[in-house]
Amino acid sequence: MRTPLIVGNWKMNKTASEAATFVGELSQHLSPPPTGVELVVAPPFTALESVGRVLGSGSLIQLGAQNLFWETQGAYTGEISAPMLKDLGCRYVILGHSERRTLFGEQGDGIRRKIQAAFAHGLRPILCIGESLAQREAGSTNEVLTQQIHESVSGFSAENLTSLTIAYEPIWAIGTGRSATTEQAVAAHQTIRSVLAATASPVLAEGTRILYGGSVTAQNIASLLASNQVDGALIGGACLQVDSFATIAKLASITRSIGV
Ligand code: 13P
Repeated sequence: MRTPLIVGNWKMNKTASEAATFVGELSQHLSPPPTGVELVVAPPFTALESVGRVLGSGSLIQLGAQNLFWETQGAYTGEISAPMLKDLGCRYVILGHSERRTLFGEQGDGIRRKIQAAFAHGLRPILCIGESLAQREAGSTNEVLTQQIHESVSGFSAENLTSLTIAYEPIWAIGTGRSATTEQAVAAHQTIRSVLAATASPVLAEGTRILYGGSVTAQNIASLLASNQVDGALIGGACLQVDSFATIAKLASITRSIGV
């Protein structure tokens, strides 16, 4: 049984002090805490410390980062390493987001090195993959997903891969208000699971959480999670308001506990 995971990717939003106020309010909204769901917030690097301090140890809400660099330390101006994130209390790290791929030129092998660094330092990577609209319209969605998995995930030990999460984020759905339908998400998740089964093992594929991301809201989360293929969500815009993120977290808890 895969525990649903709801991750808020704040992208480049909120200063350290805004972030601290926000998570304080979020914790209040999530009382009593929703059960049977794991919650993660991924603020900008500059807010990790203040958010971690407000949350404290043993919080229901866990800390994630939005990126890392694969080296541990050294002359890499502007970069942040896995041990630095770990030291601030991060448990998860989002890697290979489409904004990193398209705006900052990230590619499969570099993303693979970042995943390796996450594994090496005890961080749980959330690998983002997804097709563009042109690729979907050309009928190459499955091919794109397969290639993205192969280039970034092959060659790791089964032990490492148990801490991997994959987020299916079709590029055309990100920030557009046009979410994938439940059917489209389920089909992509089935493809991803079967590629994982072939690349790693069927047991590993069965245990790996696959999230959906792209215009997730409090209005569509329940229908996306209704399928047992969708194990949670990676949320952008809707995670920036306390109300909507808290509602999504509660709906994720309810949807799974009643086994819709
Ligand atoms: P939106 O929820 O704003 O579409 O963003 C999705 C996303 O990119 C999360 O990583």
